[in-house]
Amino acid sequence: MKTILYVKANPKPNELSRTFQISEKFIESYSKKNPQDKIITLDLYKENINFLTIESIQQIFGPKDESSKNNPLLSYAYTFAKADKYVIAAPLWNLGVPSILKAYFDYITVKDISFKYTAEGPVGLLKNKSALYVSARGGKYDTEPMSNFEFGERYIKTILNFLGVVNYSAIFADGVDIMGADIKQIINTAVEKAAKLAEIF
Ligand SMILES: Cc1cc2nc3c(=O)[nH]c(=O)nc-3n(C[C@H](O)[C@H](O)[C@H](O)COP(=O)(O)O)c2cc1C
Repeated sequence: MKTILYVKANPKPNELSRTFQISEKFIESYSKKNPQDKIITLDLYKENINFLTIESIQQIFGPKDESSKNNPLLSYAYTFAKADKYVIAAPLWNLGVPSILKAYFDYITVKDISFKYTAEGPVGLLKNKSALYVSARGGKYDTEPMSNFEFGERYIKTILNFLGVVNYSAIFADGVDIMGADIKQIINTAVEKAAKLAEIF
């Protein structure tokens, strides 16, 4: 049995979010194909995610022992490290990820849980995991020059790689806010991709 951590970063409900229409389809198809797997849904807007404080930085970079596992501040990191697969769903906001998702990564990027320091520099501790990033974007970012201005995916892919998660896929619904765009068609194409990927994820 595998554990899938489904991280949702959008205040909108499923029916109003283009991103969630795609990610929900993925989860539905994945669950059908893998009924034995466990899905943990983490809606960041329902969580008590805050900015890091001086105390939290000390705990994130401090030593870890058995009792650390009961430290509520580190619980997001332990849950993340325990999961086998990740589905991260977030719209593009102001050329990056919603701040709440960045704040979440500040809680899961934890020394001696998801990465460690070595003489050669930091090394990710998350091994044999796969990740899917799902994002609806108002504009089109699939080609240059616009791809240079998209920091959401670049951040997610890079930070996952830093933590050791190298098996990475992404599905985008691009151009949904362009006047005259066939939004239904764009979403349908992304939903089809999601259903297909769920077969092999
Ligand atoms: C706060 C905010 C910031 C946004 N910034 C961008 C942006 O930088 N580039 C872009 O192409 N679209 C931007 N958009 C548009 C969204 O990416 C687009 O509407 C997307 O479909 C939202 O996803 P959702 O339907 O899942 O909420 C922004 C939307 C919001 C609400």
